[in-house]
Amino acid sequence: MKKIIISILLVLFIFCVSACDDKKDMQVLKDVYEDYFEVGIAMNKNTLQLVDQDVLNNFSSVTAENELKWESIQPTEGNFVFTNADALVNYAKKNDMVVRGHTLLWHSQTPSWVFRTDLSDTREEKNEVLYARLDSHMETVIGRFKDDIYIWDVANEVMSDNGNEFYRADSGWYTALGSTDDAFENFLTHAFIEARELDSNALLFYNDYNLVADSGKRARTVTMIENLIAAGAPIDGVGFQMHVDYRITEKMIQDAIDDFAHLDIEINFTEVDVSCYINNDNPGLEKPTSEMLSNQADAYERIYKVARDNSDVVTSVTVWGVIDAYTWLDSFPVQGRKNWPLLFDVNGKPKESYYRICEFEE
Ligand code: GLA
Repeated sequence: MKKIIISILLVLFIFCVSACDDKKDMQVLKDVYEDYFEVGIAMNKNTLQLVDQDVLNNFSSVTAENELKWESIQPTEGNFVFTNADALVNYAKKNDMVVRGHTLLWHSQTPSWVFRTDLSDTREEKNEVLYARLDSHMETVIGRFKDDIYIWDVANEVMSDNGNEFYRADSGWYTALGSTDDAFENFLTHAFIEARELDSNALLFYNDYNLVADSGKRARTVTMIENLIAAGAPIDGVGFQMHVDYRITEKMIQDAIDDFAHLDIEINFTEVDVSCYINNDNPGLEKPTSEMLSNQADAYERIYKVARDNSDVVTSVTVWGVIDAYTWLDSFPVQGRKNWPLLFDVNGKPKESYYRICEFEE
């Protein structure tokens, strides 16, 4: 009898210990970060099906990876398709997550009809068509998600990478509007003003890449935002995309944050991923090396540390994907090179990076 009781107690003890261990594994990121900022992920219609609820429960914010882009929402003029966007927004609502809206005005993933105007039209007539298209798109999209989307990336990636020009001159919007900085700036200002009129509660952001790594592009972006605000554009925040590799330093991120401080706007890290590679070679790896994973964890730790240190202005940090089974970096910049840039591995298990951002000293 004694033996049986001891065995039962032993089984109970082992069960408790393993349950506690599971608990540790399942430490929930959004609880850890409750007092700091929203912790987000980008999701698409596939990851919504693919990823375990336990993984998704870590996050308090969702960005639709593609589902709210112009080509998904209004592929042909006047035909709005909301099925996939609705599915993500409904998922977020059901799970008590906020939604970042991405994006209204962008040169990419926007169908070519949007930029097409009649050659015989005057400049004024062409502008009328382009402004009307943007307005009707924004009215329909912002209108539909008025109660559900709390931040809009109103404009995405309009700045040039190259110091010889200010705005990106190869943008379909820029050329359609006549290829002058003034015309484009008026259009951008209009977009922000219109967005504010359509939803006075939503926060309106400008979003771009390399704002941390490229101080020249960052300086131009600061100037652009200053100009737009002076022209009356209601800009509430700037999104640092942060597609980075492990060489990112705390100082680089802090310098970027500091350069926007005088504007008194919020900062979001909107598309964080930490590539395993620092060049375009393809070593044909089938899994990441331990060195890659540990460098990556160091980088994630630095990113979230700087975000925490600046949580008075950094109000949201979103990772651009959920589990390593699916990432856009499998095809960019090297087609077919497997990458593992996210917080959860290909099977949805938390990686070293995940634990490192969960565990920190206050
Ligand atoms: C940019 C865009 C995102 C997405 C990524 C690549 O950063 O802002 O919407 O397309 O590229 O996935």
